Amino acid sequence: MNKPKNKLSMEELTSYAKRRGFVFQASDIYGGIAGFWDLGPYGSELADNIKSSWWKNFVYKKSNVVGINTAIIQNPKLWKASGHIETFVDPMVDCKACKHRFRADHLAGVDTNDLKKLDEKLVNLACPSCDAKDSFTPSRTFQMMFKTSVGPVQDASNEAYLRPETAGGIFAQYENVRETTRKKLPFGIAQIGKAFRNEITPGDFIFRLREFSQMELELFTHPDQAKDQYEASKAAAMDWLLSLGLSQENLQYHDHADDERAHYAEASVDIQYQYPFGFKELYGIANRTDYDLQAHSKESGKDLSYFDELTGKRFLPFVIEPSVGVERLLMAVMLDAYDKEEVNGEERVVMRFTPQIAPVKVAILPLSKKPELSKLANEAFDLVAGDYNVEYDETQSIGKRYRRQDEIGTPYCVTVDFESLEDKAVTVRERDTMKQERIKLVDLRAYLDDKLGL
Ligand code: GAP
Repeated sequence: MNKPKNKLSMEELTSYAKRRGFVFQASDIYGGIAGFWDLGPYGSELADNIKSSWWKNFVYKKSNVVGINTAIIQNPKLWKASGHIETFVDPMVDCKACKHRFRADHLAGVDTNDLKKLDEKLVNLACPSCDAKDSFTPSRTFQMMFKTSVGPVQDASNEAYLRPETAGGIFAQYENVRETTRKKLPFGIAQIGKAFRNEITPGDFIFRLREFSQMELELFTHPDQAKDQYEASKAAAMDWLLSLGLSQENLQYHDHADDERAHYAEASVDIQYQYPFGFKELYGIANRTDYDLQAHSKESGKDLSYFDELTGKRFLPFVIEPSVGVERLLMAVMLDAYDKEEVNGEERVVMRFTPQIAPVKVAILPLSKKPELSKLANEAFDLVAGDYNVEYDETQSIGKRYRRQDEIGTPYCVTVDFESLEDKAVTVRERDTMKQERIKLVDLRAYLDDKLGL
């Protein structure tokens, strides 16, 4: 195993994320709710910047990709067709002695839903919670989709599900999108949005959630080109992760064996990130073949085949799907960005976010609260603010304020001092080098835009 580059344990990360306003327990004042977390001011900004970077890279930069935004609740027939009602299940077992519930596959250390195989593996294992031997119930499966009912009457005819992946809505709109945009194969439909899974054992902070966001791209392609598109998607996903500043040594590909693949995939690979608890799935890339379009054609009765003008033949396109969870990525980005160093005998903690995803791009810091400095600092704020997140802070000593901005990863601090009143210039401090430069106020916006690469 590679040595983790990140310097935080899970406990440290969780407490850092709360203390610095990145991630809070959902319903914190009521003691939280397992599997649900809220993003604080810096976490939500970081997540938005990650989503925007993904969208720019995989939608705006591609002439053959368009984005959509589909409903969280769909006709339940969609989930019947996709196979989720029948097969989107996880195996679980209970300890008869302490009543603790576990994911059977996690306990057995094998990635499979084969209940017989799991029970064989569990036979000689002691319960990790109470140490009892031979105490597990037989493994059974558990439906992971959250159920709800639509309308005032709560009976089976009104049952619906919260989507477990954003992909379903894309497949159901494939034909509308193709027709209205006149796209030819290969083309992609992207979506960013919430997904819900009633995970048996949510945990590891925001790694395994019951409500999370996905960034998914369904790339429709001729079956003959599916392999090439799959390989290209693997490389593009890795390149983008590296562009966010994740370190190469914390990333690796993990090809799926037959019993690791989702029910719809012919081939699939994870890009894993080295979290404090080991290399785990961050980004999945799958060749879903024509599984989805075939299933939806059958269930809906609509012909979803594609007419190839060159050959005059009809066929069902294959789908290559790269999919990544926003929160899992946010966690990886925080772990990777965290750094600690000694400066003049004092410890400095700094989040080395790349400027494109840093939650605060610039902080405006008047040296004192004197009205004339505040006035000029507010003018500097107005000059810079508008297109990206800028913070204004006039409390505490300037040293403490620099440290605070370092701890949330702000790339540039702008200090307005008494000299500024005379020379109409400010001091700009760069986060990583801590180098300072005097810049005229009139040039400040252009200087920062250039430095930030925005
Ligand atoms: N449409 C394909 C799909 O949903 P997946 O591997 O189940 O595939 C894709 O999910 C990505 O969504 C994962 O790689 C992960 O980043 C994220 N993800 C899945 N389940 C999650 C959960 N319970 N909590 C947080 N993120 C999750």
